[in-house]
Amino acid sequence: MKNIYELKPAHVTKVIKENSITNTFNFKLKNQNEFKFLAGQFMMIGVPGFGECPISISSNPKDSTRHFSLTIRSVGELSGKLNSLKVGDNVLVRGPFGNGFPEVTKNLILIGGGCGFIPLRSVFEENRNRKDIKLQVLVGCATQDSLVFKREYLKIKNKHDFGLILEHETMPGFARQKGFVTDLIKKKKLLKDAQIFVCGPEVMYKFVAKELLAKKVDPANMFFSLEKRMHCGVGVCQHCAIGTKYVCKDGPVFSYDFLKLSKYL
Ligand SMILES: Cc1cc2nc3c(=O)[nH]c(=O)nc-3n(C[C@H](O)[C@H](O)[C@H](O)COP(=O)(O)OP(=O)(O)OC[C@H]3O[C@@H](n4cnc5c(N)ncnc54)[C@H](O)[C@@H]3O)c2cc1C
Ligand code: FES
Repeated sequence: MKNIYELKPAHVTKVIKENSITNTFNFKLKNQNEFKFLAGQFMMIGVPGFGECPISISSNPKDSTRHFSLTIRSVGELSGKLNSLKVGDNVLVRGPFGNGFPEVTKNLILIGGGCGFIPLRSVFEENRNRKDIKLQVLVGCATQDSLVFKREYLKIKNKHDFGLILEHETMPGFARQKGFVTDLIKKKKLLKDAQIFVCGPEVMYKFVAKELLAKKVDPANMFFSLEKRMHCGVGVCQHCAIGTKYVCKDGPVFSYDFLKLSKYL
């Protein structure tokens, strides 16, 4: 029987600095060639003596047999410790956990706030070269310095419909106006017949949903990835309950309809 609590050692194969408090790490497991995940799933990652926490997988699921990436922001003791990892260092991981985003069957709009593009990057990477759909990416962040994947946004902008807005400053060539991601949604012509995947700080969801509805988006196409504080990560401790479901086991991705019914939106 598969043991969901089993910790597996993984070692760091690459570190990419995203900003002063965030790095993207590539990890390799002993049996990496057997590893599979869905875009939107997360890993529980830990260091002995520091505990463990959930982190979304940010790499392309198609590269899963070579490595998986985690993009980690330092906000406390554990995430700070994880951000000091160097190539060759070891950690302990469990997963992948969660449901992930639904299969992409139409045009795709990705909306990320703050660090919210982390799981969306995995979806983007998986679908970026498809000829049968169009991609639109809208990102909102506080400042240039707090952006993650800055270099990648340059490439996305050259090939796809891309919008970036910063709360506190403008950014030549990218963000001409200050504001929130909801201001971008208001301003942009959204792709028609599209699934919309959203990830960002909890406070943003209600406002994003409101703007999308104002633009006559079909609620059945809207999906939100939630970040709740977690302990077990596998539906046992009840720390992450939302309505009748657990974010760790049934989520982190939920439909608009479920979140509306649960009075979350
Ligand atoms: C499904 C899921 C996916 C996540 N993916 C990522 C990711 O890709 N990259 C990343 O950097 N972080 C991610 N997080 C958040 C990450 O798990 C927390 O930042 C981490 O647990 C902090 O641990 P710590 O011991 O360093 O800080 P703590 O000392 O536990 O917390 C430090 C501060 O961060 C706040 N905080 C901790 N956890 C959360 C949370 N879940 N939501 C909001 N505030 C929180 C605390 O209230 C406190 O103010 C994810 C969380 C979930 C639930
Ligand atoms: S984290 Fe324990 S039930 Fe979700």
